[in-house]
Amino acid sequence: MKVPENHPLGHPDRITMLSFVKRGSRVLSAGCGTGKEVRFLKKMDCQVVGVDISKNIIKESRKIEPNAEYIKADLEDYRSDEKFDTIVCLFNTINFMDFSKRKKFIENSYYNLKVGGRLIITTENRFSSFYLFLWSILRQDLFHKIYNNSSRDYYYFPSQIDKWFSETSFKVYKHEYTYDSREKRLKTNDGRLLNLLPYFLKKDKIMIIVAIKK
Ligand SMILES: C[S@@+](CC[C@H](N)C(=O)[O-])C[C@H]1O[C@@H](n2cnc3c(N)ncnc32)[C@H](O)[C@@H]1O
Repeated sequence: MKVPENHPLGHPDRITMLSFVKRGSRVLSAGCGTGKEVRFLKKMDCQVVGVDISKNIIKESRKIEPNAEYIKADLEDYRSDEKFDTIVCLFNTINFMDFSKRKKFIENSYYNLKVGGRLIITTENRFSSFYLFLWSILRQDLFHKIYNNSSRDYYYFPSQIDKWFSETSFKVYKHEYTYDSREKRLKTNDGRLLNLLPYFLKKDKIMIIVAIKK
């Protein structure tokens, strides 16, 4: 199924990411954002709990999809007694957390899932294109570490991901696919410089990490 860019359910890549979610299952949308993800999951007949750290973002999400449960919480702390079939943490939400926060989120996800349940995380592969590699160094190492004194990471090598899960019993699979929509957007741009960019960008890869609770 193809989703156009301006589709009410959001980003066309979402369809690929959410193909790992079973229809009608109980899903935690971790870092739910402003509603498109929750709405999409509801269209898949899922029972959805949206968790976000921001009260205002939850307010926006509720306007777009009122028929879901929302909880304002930090994913670092969020634990639920009612377990989930799937936890989705999409579109670089994971990058909002530093290494220790991310580890806690992954531990909590293990707790929050049913046995056999899946944690799905998406991020970009730092090594997938020349452009992304350079940009990741500038953005991560110069802008953020120097100006913001931040320990957030933005892009990862696939081998780094294994460390996030090293102290858990998750079975981890990594899938990769080319970030179609960015290429399509650039193709429609008439600017001369931007026409050169697809050359560097076209190999950008999304990593879809699927971690299964044993
Ligand atoms: C890039 S947006 C992604 C939104 C949504 N998942 C989507 O795919 O459209 C990241 C979201 O994660 C939320 N967030 C960031 N850190 C968080 C944390 N520690 N706990 C809960 N939510 C968090 C932000 O408020 C934001 O809404």
